[in-house]
This record gives sequence, C-alpha cells and structure tokens, in this order.
Amino acid sequence: MRIDKMLSNLGFGSRKEVKKLLKDGAVQVNEELVKDPKYHVDTDQDVVTVHGEEIQYREFIYLMMNKPPGVISATEDDRDQTVIDLLELEDRIFEPFPVGRLDKDTEGLLLITNDGQLAHKLLSPKKHVPKTYFAVIDGEVTEEDIQAFKRGVVLDDGYETKPGELVILKSGIRSDIELTISEGKFHQVKRMFQAVGKRVVYLQRLTMGPLALDETLELGEYRELTEEEIDALMGYQV
Ligand code: URA
Repeated sequence: MRIDKMLSNLGFGSRKEVKKLLKDGAVQVNEELVKDPKYHVDTDQDVVTVHGEEIQYREFIYLMMNKPPGVISATEDDRDQTVIDLLELEDRIFEPFPVGRLDKDTEGLLLITNDGQLAHKLLSPKKHVPKTYFAVIDGEVTEEDIQAFKRGVVLDDGYETKPGELVILKSGIRSDIELTISEGKFHQVKRMFQAVGKRVVYLQRLTMGPLALDETLELGEYRELTEEEIDALMGYQV
C-alpha cells in the first residue's frame, strides 16, 4: 500500500496534508527516512514511525459498546446523537457502523465495525443468529407465554415469528425475563410481548451469536473486541 494512503487512512490528514508530513521528514520506514508519497509499504512487515512513534496499520476495527438509552443506532442523524458520535476520533476515522439496530430506548450489546462482510453474515436473515435480551415486562409473564413464544406468535402486521425461548426470571405485576430470538424484525421483542397483551418497559441486549455484553462497560462505554471474541465471530457458523 502507498505510504500516503496508509497514513491518510489512519487519520493523519488528507493526501495533501500527508504529503507535507512526508516532505517535512516526519516519517520513517524501517528506520529510513521516507519522503516519497508513492513509496510502497508492506503493512504486515514494515515498521512505520511518524515523529518517532510507531504506528500500526489495520483495515478493520471491532468495537463492543454498552449502548445507552437516548442514542440511536445509526451513523448519522439530523436530530439525535448516534452511537458513532460516542466514539473517539481515533476510532471514528475507520468509519465503523453499528451491526443491526437497537431501538433508541434499548440498552446493551452493540457491535460496531467497518467489516461489512462480518456484518452481513451476522445480519443475514438466512443465518438466524440468536440474540438474547433481558427485559422488564409490565404484567405477569406466565407459562402460557413461554409456550406461545415457543410456537411463534403473530405480530401486528400478521408476521408469524420463529420460535423464541422465553425464561422467566421473576414473575409478578412486573416481570423480569430473558428472551432469545433468532430474527431481527423491527421492534421484535416489544411486538412479541404486545402479541400476548403485555408491554416491555425496559429492554437490554445481552448477547449476539457468540458475543456477550461485557458487564464492566458502563452505559455509553465501549472497548475493542479481544482476539478471542474476534476469532469466535469469524468462526461462527449458525
Ligand atoms: N427488539 C425490540 O423491540 N427492540 C430492540 O431494540 C431490539 C429488539
């Protein structure tokens, strides 16, 4: 890859700005001064420094966010803050996007990446990637609801859902539940409860395929995925 493209991709400025950086003698490759913007770098082997600091090239970024309420799962929005607005500039330069959508008021696990192929694999309706949600329900969730979700329920638009696995953690006038579904219809969890006459008052995503929410992340915080998490996602077959 050309050195000017590499540096520009990594956020060191436009091609023009990077050209100046090179001309000013700020860049070395394997301890040799490089001033030619066309110089070819082997991004796996060569040691590149800018002002003496070694830089790592990479194409993809994989982030896990504990999505806070009030923020939308999009890259841009005219009115609301997006999950991308919560990222540091050093991560935003990779132009990542959220993999799938959580409602504005939903919290929890959100994968943010610029790896389109992985996103496609996780979102493809054919793959049925399971997702587990924790929810607080206004109303008493019962064994009948478990059976109804197991069979599939009919949503307000007539769509019949695939089987969902409902676990009641606490039942009462307000119930705590976990629901695992393998589809991602619009407002699916809320509409499934609506189909059995109940209302979701709090919703949090806990897992997506092999990825589980890191509970040490505060709402709005994020971190890079570990090697193990990335490997688990790459090797994931449904
Ligand atoms: N189901 C919903 O209803 N909302 C979400 O944000 C995710 C799943």
